[in-house]
Amino acid sequence: MPLEERRTAVVPLVVVGVGADGWDGLSPRARRAIEGADVLRGSARQLALVPAEVTAERVPWPSPMASALAGLPAAHPGHRVVVLASGDPMLSGVGSSLVRLHGADAVAVIPHPSSVTLACARMGWAVEETTVISVVGRSLHLLTPHVTPGRRLLVLGSDGSTPAAIAAHLCGLGYRASRVTALAQLGGAGEQAFTGTAADWGHPDTAPLVITAVESVADPGTVPLPTVPGLPDAAFADDGQLTKRDVRAATLARLAPLAGQLLWDVGAGAGSIGIEWMRAHPACRGVAVESRPDRAQRIRANADRLGVPDLRVVEGRAPDALAGLPVPDAVFVGGGATVPALLGTCWAALPAGGRLVANAVTVESEAVLAGWYSRVGGELVRLGVQRAEPVGTFTGWKPAMPVTIWSATKS
Ligand SMILES: C[S@@+](CC[C@H](N)C(=O)[O-])C[C@H]1O[C@@H](n2cnc3c(N)ncnc32)[C@H](O)[C@@H]1O
Repeated sequence: MPLEERRTAVVPLVVVGVGADGWDGLSPRARRAIEGADVLRGSARQLALVPAEVTAERVPWPSPMASALAGLPAAHPGHRVVVLASGDPMLSGVGSSLVRLHGADAVAVIPHPSSVTLACARMGWAVEETTVISVVGRSLHLLTPHVTPGRRLLVLGSDGSTPAAIAAHLCGLGYRASRVTALAQLGGAGEQAFTGTAADWGHPDTAPLVITAVESVADPGTVPLPTVPGLPDAAFADDGQLTKRDVRAATLARLAPLAGQLLWDVGAGAGSIGIEWMRAHPACRGVAVESRPDRAQRIRANADRLGVPDLRVVEGRAPDALAGLPVPDAVFVGGGATVPALLGTCWAALPAGGRLVANAVTVESEAVLAGWYSRVGGELVRLGVQRAEPVGTFTGWKPAMPVTIWSATKS
């Protein structure tokens, strides 16, 4: 028996993906699983897709459904439970939620083609060359880092107004000529496609089940922003408290963002380090700690505009404000190395393999970093950046204050 069938036979929860074409579109295996169930769980709409001859008890999800998912393995003792999901249960679906809650061994999944698979088929796009983003219940700003010339995006959205909101967002980013295709009810009898450019999008509302395909086209004069650290300083609103471009790039190289990891950006100023950390990969997470409310507000605006709306901003003074934060993988201290206990608290918070990077421009804070360097080791560098500027009709070098960077990895 193939592994897939063996798992369906023995695990307590079987999740079956159902498309917009309902029972007609199910494979014989998916039908057998549903016909053999004692209990069917799903939304009222999904349960209604199963023919009346199937005798299993049908139990719709309560709203909200979180506690029902958590309690599902124990909810129907001695019964074969089949959960109905839409499309591929492992794409932003109930299958992923159940595996997260109960482990992969407790759940067997019989997938159906996802909306992404169907959309790529309709568009003639290779799945592996397409970026998939979900804004279901999330901010449209998440699109921003992915909108670069020529990129193909598929956006899962909350409802029929999402394609129009995406078109407006593209216009705001300077991608008015982007080609937008909203694919509604894919695979169902009412399948429909709506097309246009972002600038002339004429469909304020489509059918509610819709995925939006975007081919990004930059307007003349739009300067694309890469996700490699070292964005131009002008990309950030700031009040002077900004880690400048060259030092920022060197700092992020030492923080070494990895997918899924968490950064504390302590004394975040304009938020540039936390923002560039999160732009490095969609799974990177960040907390910006900033004591001044006006700066905290500015960090939120910068994070939204640069496409990382999930950057968490904690208003408060470090080290006290660090208490209770989730364990970081890396910590950046952009200033305030002389604040008593600050570096010690950050270092203590890091697990093995965690990185601490601290920058200093004053003699006093540099002395603190030198002390840490002699006790803990790591790397101590000083960067002096000079920028060419007009001197009368000629050009001369204008030096910025040198910045000392101490970085260390906890063993
Ligand atoms: C929570 S996600 C679930 C995705 C699903 N598991 C799948 O495989 O497609 C829900 C979103 O997927 C998209 N979607 C799902 N089924 C669709 C369909 N038949 N046609 C168009 N979009 C669909 C819509 O953007 C919808 O809001």
